[in-house]
Amino acid sequence: MNARRVVIASDHAGFELKQTLVAELQALGCDAVDLGPADTASVDYPDFADRLAEAIAQDAADTGVLVCGTGIGISIAANRHRHIRAGLAHDVTSARLMREHNDANVLVLGGRLIGPETARDCLKVFLQTSFEGGRHQRRVDKLSPPSGPRPA
Ligand code: RB5
Repeated sequence: MNARRVVIASDHAGFELKQTLVAELQALGCDAVDLGPADTASVDYPDFADRLAEAIAQDAADTGVLVCGTGIGISIAANRHRHIRAGLAHDVTSARLMREHNDANVLVLGGRLIGPETARDCLKVFLQTSFEGGRHQRRVDKLSPPSGPRPA
């Protein structure tokens, strides 16, 4: 069976945690596709959120991980893409519930706010947890209606 492919990106503030999570993904047997950056030089988080969203749109993977300083900016940027449901986690419960209830396809972490142990635990739980469907499917469907603006 092929290893599960996961795309991952950050900005400079998330770089260190991204490196930790690439190693964790590999330890978990995943095919980690690192979309950058390659060092801590200052970059703009929307560029890396867009890069990851494009990779998912192109079917490079169906799951992603993003890291910036707080996780907030890169979440906002990622969620501008209709096919992305990015959830920010500071704890394992959030990482589980964003899968069970929101069918999140991107886990977002704040490199300046979360410790590496908690971040690794969030990643593991995010990857292991399935979407519950049922009543949550209807709500998730409303996040990205097929076309046009939301009804009033
Ligand atoms: C970069 O300094 C910082 O603003 C960014 O990583 C992030 O926290 C934005 O939301």
